[in-house]
Amino acid sequence: MKKAPRKLVVLMLLGSGLALNPVRVLADPARDAIVATFATEAKKADPSFAGFSAERGRAFFEAKHTGGKPDTPSCTSCHSQDPSAPGETRAGKRIEPMAVSKNASRFTKVDEVAKWFGRNCNSVLGRECTAIEKGDVITYLSGK
Ligand code: HEC
Repeated sequence: MKKAPRKLVVLMLLGSGLALNPVRVLADPARDAIVATFATEAKKADPSFAGFSAERGRAFFEAKHTGGKPDTPSCTSCHSQDPSAPGETRAGKRIEPMAVSKNASRFTKVDEVAKWFGRNCNSVLGRECTAIEKGDVITYLSGK
């Protein structure tokens, strides 16, 4: 069999790598399953639910809310305004970036996701986040 010219092989490898890269960064079966669960809940709560929105997620994540603790009015009180940058707890402890492109393990463990949404939504809003809010936030941060 005739070998493909080396230059062509290199180009083919480069090409396939570039084409696959965005998918590899974003897709994770565990994260997809978590988002799918929130979508089912959202649909149950509101039959007109038409899918999560990264833009809504961004607005929610950056907004100043009321009802929670006065020193943490926003998700960005601890998580950075720039999701690809690290954040900091009130006590000054580093929080790894929330952007999935920077931190591929984000939103892949059901227990972690439930625990931290529970805790943080109560600190910021004084209530649980809705399924739509949670799905929107993960959708926003998955694209960052
Ligand atoms: C008081 C500080 C603080 C505030 C305010 C805060 N968080 Fe967090 N958050 C943390 C800490 C600490 C962790 C756990 C460390 C980590 O995951 O890096 C965390 C983790 C999370 C996780 C788990 C991520 C994963 O990989 O599973 C989610 C989801 C989350 N936060 C969402 C939010 C949302 C939404 C808001 C706003 C409603 C918010 N947080 C506000 C401190 C905060």
